[in-house]
Amino acid sequence: MSKYNITFADIGTTVNVSRGTRIVEVAEKVGASIPFGCKENDCGDCMIEVLIGAENLSKPSPLEIELLKEKLAKPSNRLACQAMVLGDVTVKPA
Ligand code: FES
Repeated sequence: MSKYNITFADIGTTVNVSRGTRIVEVAEKVGASIPFGCKENDCGDCMIEVLIGAENLSKPSPLEIELLKEKLAKPSNRLACQAMVLGDVTVKPA
């Protein structure tokens, strides 16, 4: 299976993960300062800013798009509990 790098800019840590890994799955393990609430696309607490590689994340679902709009997100924002890694990305808490 393909492996890609996800870099958490807030803590300067890069992790090599399998394609399809959700950011939430590694963020807590490495101590990134992304807060998580529901982990189910419901609260918006896990909003991140994608600094590099937005095109390397899974496309947001209609529900994620709706919640991001509710939270007045910028185009560079995603939900870490929903976005899956499909290539190299660099993120930080929003
Ligand atoms: S943790 Fe609630 S939307 Fe991601």
